Amino acid sequence: MRKYNASKRMLVTGGAGFLGSHLCDRLIEQGHDVLCVDNFFTGTKRNVEHLLDHPRFELMRHDVTFPLYIEVDEIFNLACPASPIHYQHDPVQTTKTSVHGAINMLGLAKRVRAKILQASTSEVYGDPEIHPQTEDYWGNVNPIGIRSCYDEGKRCAETLFFDYWRQHALPIKVARIFNTYGPRMQPNDGRVVSSFIVQALKGDPITVFGDGGQTRSFCYVDDLVEAITRLMLTGEGCTGPINLGNNSEFTILELAEKVISYTNSRSKLIFKPLPQDDPRQRQPDLTKAKAALNWEPKVALEDGLKETIAYFRRSLELS
Ligand SMILES: NC(=O)c1ccc[n+]([C@@H]2O[C@H](COP(=O)([O-])OP(=O)(O)OC[C@H]3O[C@@H](n4cnc5c(N)ncnc54)[C@H](O)[C@@H]3O)[C@@H](O)[C@H]2O)c1
Repeated sequence: MRKYNASKRMLVTGGAGFLGSHLCDRLIEQGHDVLCVDNFFTGTKRNVEHLLDHPRFELMRHDVTFPLYIEVDEIFNLACPASPIHYQHDPVQTTKTSVHGAINMLGLAKRVRAKILQASTSEVYGDPEIHPQTEDYWGNVNPIGIRSCYDEGKRCAETLFFDYWRQHALPIKVARIFNTYGPRMQPNDGRVVSSFIVQALKGDPITVFGDGGQTRSFCYVDDLVEAITRLMLTGEGCTGPINLGNNSEFTILELAEKVISYTNSRSKLIFKPLPQDDPRQRQPDLTKAKAALNWEPKVALEDGLKETIAYFRRSLELS
């Protein structure tokens, strides 16, 4: 039986997106009331369809660049397009979503004295000069490039979170999320895992940017959601920023080979020039996360890829 008052009113902005929908699932499982707010720019109702009839779940169409007046206990601020194709589609709106969205959600948190967590990103490190990245590294970000709307928007959101913490003693949590993948990613959003899987399942050529020697570390969504919910439970002394992700590092070529092998695909690799400002290497230093959250990623790339491939196989059959 649930403890008296253990259930909280949770707001998840961007809750109909990839990560947000998995977070909604987890919070409902934990017995909370969940209000999912989304403008459906990159998220879809389909991602939370299975929750729509749940008595503790509510879905609201709303754009976080406008204020929101509700009563909640905790806010997970995830609203923001996350893939380059989407965040570069309307870069001004991307910055607004990060910055105005943060101001609006922090304003709400301040009014109702809610705890608030920001889904920040490893992109705040830009093209990093140190490896792996620790939280005290300030980053190497191009302020005027095509990725800046996202990178600088997220950096400014972090600034706002820490100013609300210093100025208004607001309880904040800042998670710097590294590359995360899993079911409910969009098939056409240009992110490397979903793109490779869809290309392999269709038998299309697999597009590798650059020589494929650049590395990434991939975190399975279940591990990430576990870390985010643990971070929200930490005491006021733990504000972050805190890196969350998986620190096993793979080259893009290794990823392509694994995807081809697990899908039994005949796809061939084709190579295209690297996009502007694409980082060569990305790997989180997870020392802080392990100590503060008593957490570490558990799902191996092989297992996570197989789950994700099964999801895309089903969705492609349905479409
Ligand atoms: N998946 C990753 O690897 C990763 C890595 C680092 C950070 N993040 C962060 O995590 C969050 C979720 O990412 P995701 O991978 O689930 O991406 P996603 O695009 O699937 O989800 C983002 C959600 O936000 C919604 N949204 C966008 N603008 C909005 C607005 N103005 N108002 C309301 N809703 C809006 C979208 O419709 C979508 O449902 C983002 O903030 C992203 O920056 C994700």
